[in-house]
Amino acid sequence: MYDYLIVGAGLFGSIFAHEAKKKGKRCLVIDKRNHIGGNVYTKNIEDINVHIYGAHIFHTSNKEVWDYMNQFVEFNRYTNSPIAIYKDELYNLPFNMNTFNKLWGVKTPAEAKRKIQEQLAEVNITEPKNLEEQAINLVGKDIYEKLIKGYTEKQWGIKATVLPAFIIKRLPVRFTYDNNYFNDKYQGIPIGGYTKIIEKMLDGIEVRLDTDFFKNKDELMNLANKVVFTGMIDEYFDYKFGALEYRSLRFEHEILNEENHQGNAVVNYTEYEVPYTRIIEHKHFEFGIQPKTVITKEYSTNWSKGDDPYYPINNDTNNTTYQKYKELADKETNVIFGGRLAEYKYYDMHNIVEQALKRVREQI
Ligand code: FDA
Repeated sequence: MYDYLIVGAGLFGSIFAHEAKKKGKRCLVIDKRNHIGGNVYTKNIEDINVHIYGAHIFHTSNKEVWDYMNQFVEFNRYTNSPIAIYKDELYNLPFNMNTFNKLWGVKTPAEAKRKIQEQLAEVNITEPKNLEEQAINLVGKDIYEKLIKGYTEKQWGIKATVLPAFIIKRLPVRFTYDNNYFNDKYQGIPIGGYTKIIEKMLDGIEVRLDTDFFKNKDELMNLANKVVFTGMIDEYFDYKFGALEYRSLRFEHEILNEENHQGNAVVNYTEYEVPYTRIIEHKHFEFGIQPKTVITKEYSTNWSKGDDPYYPINNDTNNTTYQKYKELADKETNVIFGGRLAEYKYYDMHNIVEQALKRVREQI
């Protein structure tokens, strides 16, 4: 008999299992995929650690979380500084003095602020009715047209004029020549890839891959005293209140016979006419100098039941439905629901580390 059956070998399930084992608990981890790691899984292709489910950059300001991750592997000094390509123009992200200089030729922060103020005065929207108005209201027309509109419309699959304004609450604008995407104190990529971290977390713990919880639910539940469930909460309750909606993604990985394809790990394509949202060149996460390179084109796609769920659509309807599932989940005394799918919430990795450590400490 196991103490815990852990459904999902992603970051949440693996941290839970690792900490429970340290406290002497017996765990069985299952995953329906044929590999561990969930969405942080990296696969070695051409000696490059490829982020199979999209670019993953670890960042946090929480020293405990940073130290926790660093006990498994060392992190490199990678700093995320994405580039945006709009038609033939190339811009630095996040919006900073380099971006403003390229857009308007301005050189000082005062000039940049004046330019943005001019743009905001031209529109003068008091109550933004949709995402387009909200974005223009925050950063002006030029940045919106070139760097936000097409990308956002591809991401959501609908026009910015029909997307609700609340999606964009604020748009960080930086008046320094600093291309670092994140403001966090700590940032990097694990040397050797994320899978190495998960392997270390699960060392000495029984793992069964290609094992879908719902195919053998009763039998699996009988193997353990408690269950940690990191799959989809609506599926757990047999979709009795309906399916929670997501946006999905399609990744096209390519091996190229060239050493350096785009000179940067992350390049966003912000015009609507280019069908993918970004191209990732994985070797640049690790300053690789291999003779070949691996790139991934990322497409944002509609989701329907059965597709891979990536981004929850947290509108009022879905959030209300989630609350109904959550009420049922709270009554399941022997099941702990955790992670991005069970909580129907977008979580960064550092949030997952915090959450998983908190939950396992409450338990044991
Ligand atoms: P995760 O989905 O990883 O794990 C759940 C596991 O449960 C999966 O392996 C799944 O197969 C399994 N499972 C589900 N149902 C099951 C069933 N019925 N039976 C058996 N197994 C089942 N974060 C960050 O900090 N920096 C970044 O740069 C990025 N980048 C990024 C890009 C993209 C495209 C996405 C979608 C997400 C990110 N993230 C990120 C977020 C990061 O991916 C996320 O925080 C963690 O992967 C969440 O870990 P979980 O364990 O919660 O879920």
